Amino acid sequence: MTTPTTEDLAQGKAYTAPGITVYYDARRCLHVASCVRGLPGVFDPAARPWIRPANAEADAVAAVVRTCPTGALHYVLEGQEAEMPDEITTITPSPDGPLMIRGNLVIDTPGGEKKDVRAALCRCGHSSNKPYCDGTHAKVGWKSTPDPS
Ligand code: SF4
Ligand code: FES
Repeated sequence: MTTPTTEDLAQGKAYTAPGITVYYDARRCLHVASCVRGLPGVFDPAARPWIRPANAEADAVAAVVRTCPTGALHYVLEGQEAEMPDEITTITPSPDGPLMIRGNLVIDTPGGEKKDVRAALCRCGHSSNKPYCDGTHAKVGWKSTPDPS
């Protein structure tokens, strides 16, 4: 199976700086904030625009983007290959939330098959952006473990 290309991963709103473009799909962001913790000078929800990739080295920005577990963030590094997927696919259920998946992914969406390297998939059944999680599980109080009472 081939790995995703830069075109596959360049999804969402583009934020460009010398050497790198960061792409952000707000509908897939679950506000886990690993980006904000990783580089607060680049990912600052209080700033406009909230992503300012020029505030760090392009490689450092890319490294933090790779920590985004939901795939809301992607990047294209100028003149370089697309982000390589993890060799081994991992699926990690988050408590009372989605399935976090990393690997060489082909995701069946209403818009057709999408190649990806990271995704959070809905398992509560309430997302308006299926198959992706959109955070609705928290609003409806969905529990992954049945109440023992
Ligand atoms: S790491 Fe990804 S999911 Fe988390 S706040 Fe940043 S963009 Fe959103
Ligand atoms: S698991 Fe998050 S919306 Fe369904």
